Amino acid sequence: MDRQAHPVHTIFSINGETHELDSTVSPSLSLSEYLKRFTPFKGKISCSEGGCGACSVEIIKCSPEGEHRRTALNACLAPVGTLDGASVHTSESLGNQTKGFSPIQEQFARHHASQCGFCTPGFVVAIDAHIKRCKDQGKRVTLKELQKGIDGNLCRCTGYAPIIKACKALIDAGDVEDLAFGLPCTGQRPGCQQTCHSKEAVRHRLQAPRSESPAFHRPTTFQELFAILHAVDLSKARFVAGNTGSGVYKDWPTQPTLVELKHIPQLRQQLVTKESITVGAAVTLEEVIHLLASIKGPAQAGYAAMVEHMERIAGHLVRAAATVGGNVVLARQRALQSDYCTIMIAAGADVEVTSRLGARWVPLHQFADPSQGSFQQQRPEIVSAVRFPALTPHSRFWSYKVAARFNNAHAMVNTSIWMSTVSQDASASSPWQATRVAIGCPTKLATGKVEWRARRAFHVEAAIRASPANLLGLVSALEALPHDINPGDDLGASAGFCMAAAEGMVFRTLAPFVAAALPEAGHRLQSPEQRASLQRLLAAPPPMDQSVPLGQHEVPDWSHVAPPVHLPVEKDRIRLQASGEARYTGDMMLDGAELYAYVVKSARALATITSVDPSAALQVPGVLKYISASDIPKGGINGSVHGSIQPEPLFATDRVIYQGQPIGLIVAESPSLAERACDLVRVEYGPDGELGDPIITLEDAIAKSSFFEGPALVGGSAFRKRSIGNATAALQAAPHTITDASYMLPSQQHMYMEPHVSVAEPDEDGTISVWSSTQSPDACQKAVADVLGLPYHNVRVRTRRVGGAFGGKVTRPCQIAAGAALAAWKLGRKVHLAITRDDDLRMNGGRNPTKVLYSVGFQPDGRITALDIRGWMQCGALLDLAFNDAGVLQAKADQAYAFPNMSVDIKLCRCNIAPKTIVRGPGFLNAALVAEHILEHVAQHLDLDPVVVRERNFLTSLAELPHHLPSADEATAAGPPGQPERSTNLATESVASPSSASAVGASMRHADGDGPASPSIAPPSVAQTADAAKHDQRDRVVQGSPPHSTLQSQSGVSAVEQRNMSETGLSSQLIRRGYEHMYNRIVAACCPRPPKSLANPPQPSSGIRRPGLQGVDEAAVHWVPAAASPGTPAATPDRLHMVHTSANNASASLKRPPPNAVASLPLADVGARANTVPGNSRAAERQAASTKGSAENTASNCAQHLEAAAAGRVVSRPCQPDRRIAPADDVLRPGDVRTPLGTHIKAGSFTLWRVWDGVKKMSNFYQRRAEVQEFNSQHAWRKRGIALSPVRFDVAPAAMPAAVTIYADGSVLVSHGGIEMGQGLATKVKQVAAFELGKLLPAALQPLPMELVRIGDTDTAISPNGGPTWSSTGSESTCAAVQEACKQLRGSLAAAMAGVSGASAAAAWRSGLAKVHGDPGIFPATVLLSAYGFFDGTQRGRDGNGQTHSQASASRPPMSYTLFAAACTEVEIDVLTGEHFIRQTDIFFDCGRSLNPMIDMGQVEGAFVFGLGMMTTEEVVVDPRTGRLLTDSTWTYKIPTAPCVPSQFNVSFLKDSPNEHGVMSSKACGEPSLMLVASILAAMRQAVAAAHSDPALQHTSSLPLHTASNPAAQHTSPQPHLAATVPSPQNPAEQSLSNGNMHSQMPLPPAPRTASADQGEDERNVLQDVHVGGHDRLQESTDMQHGTCPGSCQGGSTVQPSNSFPGSFLGLEAPATVARVRDAIGGPSIAAVLRNAAGLQPAELCSTDDWELI
Ligand SMILES: Cc1cc2nc3c(=O)[nH]c(=O)nc-3n(C[C@H](O)[C@H](O)[C@H](O)COP(=O)(O)OP(=O)(O)OC[C@H]3O[C@@H](n4cnc5c(N)ncnc54)[C@H](O)[C@@H]3O)c2cc1C
Ligand code: FES
Ligand code: FES
Repeated sequence: MDRQAHPVHTIFSINGETHELDSTVSPSLSLSEYLKRFTPFKGKISCSEGGCGACSVEIIKCSPEGEHRRTALNACLAPVGTLDGASVHTSESLGNQTKGFSPIQEQFARHHASQCGFCTPGFVVAIDAHIKRCKDQGKRVTLKELQKGIDGNLCRCTGYAPIIKACKALIDAGDVEDLAFGLPCTGQRPGCQQTCHSKEAVRHRLQAPRSESPAFHRPTTFQELFAILHAVDLSKARFVAGNTGSGVYKDWPTQPTLVELKHIPQLRQQLVTKESITVGAAVTLEEVIHLLASIKGPAQAGYAAMVEHMERIAGHLVRAAATVGGNVVLARQRALQSDYCTIMIAAGADVEVTSRLGARWVPLHQFADPSQGSFQQQRPEIVSAVRFPALTPHSRFWSYKVAARFNNAHAMVNTSIWMSTVSQDASASSPWQATRVAIGCPTKLATGKVEWRARRAFHVEAAIRASPANLLGLVSALEALPHDINPGDDLGASAGFCMAAAEGMVFRTLAPFVAAALPEAGHRLQSPEQRASLQRLLAAPPPMDQSVPLGQHEVPDWSHVAPPVHLPVEKDRIRLQASGEARYTGDMMLDGAELYAYVVKSARALATITSVDPSAALQVPGVLKYISASDIPKGGINGSVHGSIQPEPLFATDRVIYQGQPIGLIVAESPSLAERACDLVRVEYGPDGELGDPIITLEDAIAKSSFFEGPALVGGSAFRKRSIGNATAALQAAPHTITDASYMLPSQQHMYMEPHVSVAEPDEDGTISVWSSTQSPDACQKAVADVLGLPYHNVRVRTRRVGGAFGGKVTRPCQIAAGAALAAWKLGRKVHLAITRDDDLRMNGGRNPTKVLYSVGFQPDGRITALDIRGWMQCGALLDLAFNDAGVLQAKADQAYAFPNMSVDIKLCRCNIAPKTIVRGPGFLNAALVAEHILEHVAQHLDLDPVVVRERNFLTSLAELPHHLPSADEATAAGPPGQPERSTNLATESVASPSSASAVGASMRHADGDGPASPSIAPPSVAQTADAAKHDQRDRVVQGSPPHSTLQSQSGVSAVEQRNMSETGLSSQLIRRGYEHMYNRIVAACCPRPPKSLANPPQPSSGIRRPGLQGVDEAAVHWVPAAASPGTPAATPDRLHMVHTSANNASASLKRPPPNAVASLPLADVGARANTVPGNSRAAERQAASTKGSAENTASNCAQHLEAAAAGRVVSRPCQPDRRIAPADDVLRPGDVRTPLGTHIKAGSFTLWRVWDGVKKMSNFYQRRAEVQEFNSQHAWRKRGIALSPVRFDVAPAAMPAAVTIYADGSVLVSHGGIEMGQGLATKVKQVAAFELGKLLPAALQPLPMELVRIGDTDTAISPNGGPTWSSTGSESTCAAVQEACKQLRGSLAAAMAGVSGASAAAAWRSGLAKVHGDPGIFPATVLLSAYGFFDGTQRGRDGNGQTHSQASASRPPMSYTLFAAACTEVEIDVLTGEHFIRQTDIFFDCGRSLNPMIDMGQVEGAFVFGLGMMTTEEVVVDPRTGRLLTDSTWTYKIPTAPCVPSQFNVSFLKDSPNEHGVMSSKACGEPSLMLVASILAAMRQAVAAAHSDPALQHTSSLPLHTASNPAAQHTSPQPHLAATVPSPQNPAEQSLSNGNMHSQMPLPPAPRTASADQGEDERNVLQDVHVGGHDRLQESTDMQHGTCPGSCQGGSTVQPSNSFPGSFLGLEAPATVARVRDAIGGPSIAAVLRNAAGLQPAELCSTDDWELI
C-alpha cells in the first residue's frame, strides 16, 4: 500500500494482530463493520445502537510503561478512529477451538446458556471484562456482580436462567478466582503471542507516525481544539466523546467531521476535594461511578445512592464509553431522558462551558433545560467539566428511577433529592433547612410540545424547608408537586402515570422521617386505629431491587431408554457459538469481493408513486446501482413471499400500501454506504388522500369494513368460523351472562437477535447460490426462482443456523433473499443484504393484535354454558400468514375447557401497516389468553376463586379422575347452597377404564348432580386457605384414595358405594353411554364424513382411510348438505342430511356411494337416548345440545357449500377436514377426550389434571396464596398476586426430508430440511442418528459415538421440499426423517455388521464398514451407504420407531397429539410507581419423554420469558396517523432482561407420560410454555385488585366503592372505553368496537369519574380537591378499575358476594407495563390518602392550628 497516497490515521490491534488504517478506511467506520468486513473475526451486529450487547468487545488501552486500562464496550458504537493505540479483543481471543475454550465459554456450554448463539459471544466478553474489572477494583466477584456485568446484554432465546446458572457455576467452580483474568495482562496466558501487549507492540502502536485525517481530529489541547473548530465547517462537525449518542438519535449527520475530545487532559480530570467533586467532560459514566464509590467517610451513603442510580444508566457497555459531557449536552440539545442530569441537579452541580475566550460556570438545571434560566450557548463552545459540592455529614441524598424495565432502559420518570440540616437560611422551620429536589419527566411545554426535561422542584423544596418533618409537612410537599412539574403524555407513559410516579418517589424519600416522628404526633392521632393505619401508610417500601433469577429443575430419568436419546447431551457446536467462531448467514461468502445492498422504503402508508429518482444516490462514490422491479429479468415475476396465500410484490411499483414497503435497492461497496445512499433516493408520491386515507388502526379497519375476505380464505379449511352447540340459545338460557365484553390482545415483535440477512452469488449455467437466515429455505428457493424466472433446480438456498427466528423467518426472508439474488444477478457479483434492527422492526409487523368481544353464559357456580367469541385481528397491508393465527385461534379457543356451546368467529382486518406474520405460538397464544381471560372474568363476576372456576370447566376424562382428588380447598369452595353439582363437560360422560372405581365415583359426583346439595360456598379465609393447603397435601399423599369424608361431603356417595356402583355395572353403563355420545359427535363433526349408526361405532381397519364407508376413498367423494341437491330434504334443526355428489377425480376402481345418496343424522334420537338414563336429565340435555351443536357445526362449517348449493353453484373445492384439527384417527377409545371444538385427545396425552395438580403441589400454591393475602393486608404500597393457568397445545408435525451418508472412515453426515435456530434441532438429530445407527452394533457397544455424526447445512440441493421449521415440531419431524433414513441404512449394512466386535463402539463400527468399503482409498463401497428418509407427517408406530414411509402414508393417520402444562406465578407490584417483578414462577410441563431434557428445559424457560416480555414490557406503538412504528428500536421496544425473569423460576417435567404418537415418545416444547404467561397477567391483576380493595388507599372511606363484591355496581357501571356501545344496524359488533380502546394507539385517557348524584356535596368537594394543578388521577379510579365487568352483565345474580377472596381486576391488559400498572391502580393521590387517613381537611380548609397539632 502506498503510504504517501494513503497515510495511516489509526493503529490498533485486534486479537493480537496489528491493524493500520489508512484513508481507504474511514475513521468513523464502526468497529463492528470493520470486524465484519476486514477481519476473520466476524462479530455480531444486531441493533447497531448499543442496546443489545451482541457486538461486545474488550478494549485494553496500554501505555508504553505497561499500564493497562480495560473495559468492554459496544463495537457498533465505537468509530475505529477512537481506538487508536488500543488492543481489541473479541470472544475468539478469550478461547477458541484451536487454543482451547475459556472457562466462561465452557460454562456456557455446560449450562446450555446459548440457544441460537447470536448473543453469546457478547455475553462471554461482557462477563470476562466484568470479572477483570472487579478484580482490578479489588471487588469480590459475586453472582449479583456478574448479573450487573451483563446488564447491557440481551438474549431473546434462553430466558437468561441458564446464563445466570453458567455465571453461578463459574463462581462455584472457583474459575473466577483461579484465572489470571483480573491481573493486568502479563502476556503469560496460554497461547498468548505477546503481540498486543508487549512493550514493543504497544510502542509501535502508540508512536508510529500517523497523519491527521481530515475527517477525524484528535486535539490534545484547548488551543488545538479551537484552531480546528475555527478551520472546519461547524455545521458538518461533531464532537465525539463516547459516540453513544448515535445509538439513541438516528438523525446524526451522515458524513461528519469528527473531533475527538478525550485527548485533552483537562477534559479527563477527576478532582475530589473537601468542598467539591469535579469531573472533566470526557470522563465516562463508569469512571464517575467508580470515583463516587471510592469516596469513603460519613457522607458515603449519599454517594452510594448516586452510584446505585447511575448503575441503572444504560448498561455497562454503554457507560464504559458514554461521557459526562455527552450526557449533559444531549440532555440540553436532544431532551435526553438523562439520569445523570437529574442526579447532578439535585447534587447542586454546575457545568463548566469553555470557549476560545475562556470558561464560565452555569448551574446545571439551567444548562440542561433551555427554558430555565438565561444561559445562551455560543459557538464554538464545549462543555469542559461538571462540578458539584461535596456531600457533608449533615446531608442526605436519595435517587430513584422508574423505567420500562429494571436495567438498560431510559428513565420514564426519575427523582433525586438532597437535603441538609445545615443552612444559611435562618427562616427555615424544618429540620431540613436546605434541600434540592430534581425531577425528570416528559414535560408539557408552553408550546404544547412534550419534551423530557429534568427540573428543580422549587415548590416542593420550599414546602420541605417550610414545614416541620411531620405529616402535614409531607402532605404539603406532595401537594406542591403539581406546581413544579407539568407532565405530558409520552411514548408508553401517560401524564397521570408520570405525576403518580414522581409523587411516589418524593413520598418514598420523606415518609420514613414522618413515620419516625409519628409517636410524638399531636392529639389528632390518639386513636390507635388511626395511628396504626397511618403507620402502615407511612411504611414506604424501598425501591425494587434487581433480583438474581434462580430456580430448580426436575427431570425424570430416562437415561436407560434409548441412549443417547433422552439424555441431556450438550448442544451441538455450542462452544463455537460461545467463542464467536460459529458462522451465521451474514458471515458467509465474505471475502472482500462482495457488494452490499440496502432497501429503499416507502415513507408513506398509502399513496401512488409518481417518480423515483436515484441519481443523487448514484453520484456518491462507492454507490453502484439502483435496482427496482424493472430490473426483474424476462420470465421473472415481481413476487416474493411464499407460504402465504396472497401474492406479495418484491418491490412496489405504482403505489405503496404501507410505510416501509420496499421500492428498490441501492447496491454499494459497503453496507453503511448502501444504507445511507438509500436516503438520497428521491421518491415522489401522489397527493395525500388520492387513494383514500390509509387505514392504520384496528378500529378504523373495523369501522370501514376493511377485511381480508374471499374464497381462498373462507373456503380454506384452516380458517373458518367454529361453533359447537347453540351459543345464542344457551346464552339466553343462562342464569348469568356477561355480554359483549371486550379484550385486547397486544402485538409483539420477534426481536430475534439476528435481523434478516441474505447473501447471493450467481454461478455458471444460469444458477445462483443463496445463503439465507430463514426458517424455510424452500420458500426462499421458490421466491428467488420466481423473481429470476429460473427453474427451481437452478437455485440453491442454504442455511447453517439462524440467530433466532420465532416465526419471523418463515415467509419474510423471501423478500430479502429474492432482493439479494436480483441484485447479484443484475450485477454478476456477490451481494450481501442485511437489514438493520430498526428496519427489521418496521418492515415486519410482528404478531397480529386481536380485539375480542365475548359473551359468556354461566351457572352460579362458574360453569360456563355458553360462549360466543367474535374477534378482529389486525393484519398488515398484506395477508402473510395471518390466516394461520386466526384459524388456530378459532380452532383452539376451547383450550383446556369443556365449553358446551360455543362459537368463535374471527375477522382479518386489513390495515396500511407492515405485514404482520406469525410470532412464536401463533393463534395458540391468542386462544390461551382469551380463554383464561374469560375464566377470570367469570370468576371475578361471581366473586369466586378463579382456580375453582377453572377446574369446574376443565376437560375431564374419567380415566384421569383418580389423579384429581378433590382437595379441601375445592371442597370449601364447592358450590353455593342449593346449587347441585352437575356435569360441566362432555368428557365426564366420556370413557373410563372400568377398573377406575374411585374415578367413576368421582365422575358420578361431577356428572349427575343427583346427590345431596353441596356445602355452602364460603370462599376461603386466610386461615381456611392455609388449612386447605394442608388438606391438599394430605390428599396427595393418599394417592388415588380420597378421604371418604371429602367425597361424602360433596356427593353424599361414599367411596364404598361408589365402588359398588362400579361393580354393579352402573359405571359401565355410563361409560357406554359416554362412548356412544362421543362417537356420535364424531359422526357429525365434519362435512365429508357420512353419518354412521349410533349403536355400532366402526373400528378402524387396515386399508380404510377413515372409519367411514367400507372401501371408499373419502378424499375422492364429496358430501354436501342436503339442501344442495334438489329433491332432497333441507337440513332441519333436528336432522342433518348429507348428499353425495359426483366426484370427478375419483378413481373408477374405488368404491363410491351412489350419486345423490342421502345420509342423515337424527339428532333427536341422540338426545332421547341420553334422556333415558335415569337421574341424568341435565346431562342428557347437555348431550343433546352438544350433539345438535355438532350438526349445526357441520352446517356452519360448510356454509360455503350450503350457500353455493342454494345459489346453484358448484363448489370446486371440497370441504376437507383440517388434518391438524380433525385427525383421521378419530375413534375415541377409553380415556380419550374430545374437546368442544373437535380436538381428539388420546387417553395417554390427557394429562391436564396431572400437570394442574402437579403445579399446585410444586408451587405450594394454597399456602403461598394465604401468604400473599397476609402480605397484602399488612402492606399498603406493595401488593402481591398469585395465579395459576393451564395450557393445552395440539401438535401436528409436518413433513420433512433427511439424507444420511456413512463415509469410509465411519463418519456420518446428516443433511436435512430442518433449520437449527437455537431450539437444539441439530443436537437431537445427532442423538437420534447415533441411536438408530448404533442398533447395528452389539448391544454392549451401543450407541454409535455421537462424535462420528456431523450435521450438515440445510441445503435445498440435498434436502429439498422441506417446508418451514416451525410450530415447535421441526426437531421431531427431522428426527423422524433421520430415523427413516437410518432404518434403510441398517438394512444395507445388516450383513456387514453382523457379529462385529471391537475395543470400542467406533472400532466395531469401522470394522463392519471395512467389509463393504474394501480399500477405502480407491474403490467405491459395495452397498449404498446413503439413504434418504422422509417423514410424511403421519403417526409413528407405537414403539416410536416408525415404519417406512411407503407403508405409512396409505394407512397411517397424521401424527398429532396434545400436551398440557400449567404454571403458577406470583408477582409483586409497587403501588407508588407501578414497578413490578415476578417473585416466582413454577411450571409443570408434560414433555413426553424429552429427546434432550437440557435443551427442552431451555425451550420451556425461553418460551415463557418470551411471553413474559409480551405480558410486561413489550409495547408496540404505531402512529395512528402515519402508520409509522414508534417502537422501532432497542431504545423504545423493551424485551426482557435478566432481572425481569422470575426470581425463583422452577420447571418440572411430568414423569411417566411417554407419547406413543410422537417421535421416540417425545412431545414438543418450543411454544406451549409461552401461553402460560396468562398466569402473569392474572397475578398482576390480582395485585392491582388488592390495591383497589385496600381501604387505606381509597380516597375516603365515606365514598362508595365499586368492588368486585358489589354486583350492583358492576351491572350499572360499564366502562365506556371497554364496553360495547349501541351497535349500529349494519355492522353492530364492528361499530361497537370502533368506539373501543384500541391498542395500536396511545391508550385513551380513562373515563372521568364524576361524583354520583347521591353523593353529598361534601364528597364532591373532596373529589374536586384532589384535582390539584391538573393532577387528575382520580379520573383513573374508575368503577372498572375496581373490578367492574368490562362487559355488561345481563343476568341475575344469586351469588352471595364475599370479600374474602381477592378478585381480579380485568381492566389491566397486556402488556402490563410499569405505566399501565400504575394507571390501572389509579386512585387518589398519596397526599389525599394521607389526609384522609389522618382526618385532615383538604388543603385550603386546613387551619394553621393543624400544623401544630400533627
Ligand atoms: C443503549 C443506551 C442506553 C442509554 N440509557 C441511558 C440511561 O438510562 N440514562 C441516561 O442518562 N442516558 C442513557 N443513555 C444516553 C447516554 O448516557 C448518552 O448517550 C451519553 O451520555 C452521551 O455521551 P457520549 O460521550 O457518548 O456522547 P457523544 O455521543 O459522543 O456525543 C453526544 C453529543 O454531545 C456532543 N458532545 C459530547 N461531548 C461534548 C462536550 N464535551 N462538549 C460539547 N459537546 C459535546 C457531541 O457533539 C454530540 O452532539 C443511553 C444510551 C444508549 C446508547
Ligand atoms: S449490535 Fe451493538 S449493541 Fe446491539
Ligand atoms: S441465544 Fe441469546 S439470543 Fe439466541
